[in-house]
Amino acid sequence: MTIDLAAFPADFLWGTATSAYQIEGAVAEDGRSPSIWDTFSHTPGMTAGGDHGDVACDHYHRWREDIALMRRLGVNGYRLSVAWPRVLPGGDGPVNPKGLAFYDELTDALLEAGITPSVTLYHWDLPQVLQDRGGWPERDTAFAFAEYAEAVAARLGDRVRLWTTLNEPLCSAWIGHLEGRMAPGWTDLTAAVRASYHLLLGHGLAVEAVRAAAPQAEVGLVNNLSTVHAATDRPEDLAAARRLDGHTNRWWLDPVHGRGFPADMREVYGVDLPEEPGDLKTIAAPLDWLGLNYYFPQTVTDDPAGPAPHVRTVDRPGVPRTGMDWEIDASGMETLLLRLSEDYGARRLYVTENGSAYPDAVRPDGTVDDPERRAYLEQHLSACASALRKGAPLAGYFAWSLLDNFEWAYGYDKRFGLVHVDYATQKRTIKGSGHRYAEIIREHGAGAREAA
Ligand code: FCB
Repeated sequence: MTIDLAAFPADFLWGTATSAYQIEGAVAEDGRSPSIWDTFSHTPGMTAGGDHGDVACDHYHRWREDIALMRRLGVNGYRLSVAWPRVLPGGDGPVNPKGLAFYDELTDALLEAGITPSVTLYHWDLPQVLQDRGGWPERDTAFAFAEYAEAVAARLGDRVRLWTTLNEPLCSAWIGHLEGRMAPGWTDLTAAVRASYHLLLGHGLAVEAVRAAAPQAEVGLVNNLSTVHAATDRPEDLAAARRLDGHTNRWWLDPVHGRGFPADMREVYGVDLPEEPGDLKTIAAPLDWLGLNYYFPQTVTDDPAGPAPHVRTVDRPGVPRTGMDWEIDASGMETLLLRLSEDYGARRLYVTENGSAYPDAVRPDGTVDDPERRAYLEQHLSACASALRKGAPLAGYFAWSLLDNFEWAYGYDKRFGLVHVDYATQKRTIKGSGHRYAEIIREHGAGAREAA
């Protein structure tokens, strides 16, 4: 499939993304304390096959090799996350110099390789000590997050320009505290709503803390959004779709844009927000950019008996799916990019994650052929091109993921990498999709040089 590469600006960031707990391993090294994901993944029955991140891709020791892989792919961007329990093992309080030193060295090596680092401060690995004090349902956690953010920005902010406070707060709040499928594994609506509130408060406080410590920082928030369709045009299903849009999209976007928490959803949840004077202003701190993680659309029917938001997702017959059983619909990504720029006035956008899992295998000749992932990548880059043509200020795309890695509750079974990882040997093999991505990046570079 040919992609309209002329639509992409010359300085477009072509990246890949990872997160700390999913790749680093070395969970007990150099002063790192356990996070809620260590606890959760070591709790029987919580992850597929009892998988955990103790070793993962051993990136903590193999990061030089992983940067070399990025060079082979030709990417000029890399979205990584910093592990809070490495930097502040006590959750707050003293900084662990070895924890920061790891990211410091990594940053320098990325820059030396011509790769712009984009640093996410929270990709779900809350220090367990803070969970023991109540976790995100408690207000203090938001302040501890800002303290941690400041420590990281003070150390890396002279070299790192792109900062993300939170990755997908929806997952932390709704999947972690309401559905119980992610750490900390709760199923408590009141706790979930309180967690959502304190995550966004922590985001706002961290924006201020990062800017104070690193004045040239460009700070954004990363949400995983979905396009939402009603399964039928029955009024009940249309209302259900509106509720899921509130739950998935508006709850995370409106407060950050000074619109407050959506009134309709406050009614659906029926939980008092732990609001204090000035919070909404903090939460609405102006941002330099927004990040979109896009994977799939959702189609719903009304489910009055189910838990909030009282919807049931249904399969659309005939729609192709990935190995996660997620529907493939690249047009949803274009729709969401345009919604962020047109409805929310985003001045700059990044696709901070997008990708697909398939059961890849290394062939006898040592290669990995993954035509489905290649097609997924091409379709979604075409959606980026189309959004750009329609005026979306898209400045970069970070493929999820650089490496196959620990896919949370799904364990190691779900492979999202452009690079295959053999977990027994830690051998990395660039997949066909990775080679295709490299080719696209090269073509775009050649086109941009010609135009200049
Ligand atoms: C996103 C997460 C990321 C990865 C992908 C598949 O929700 O941010 O860590 O698990 O899904």
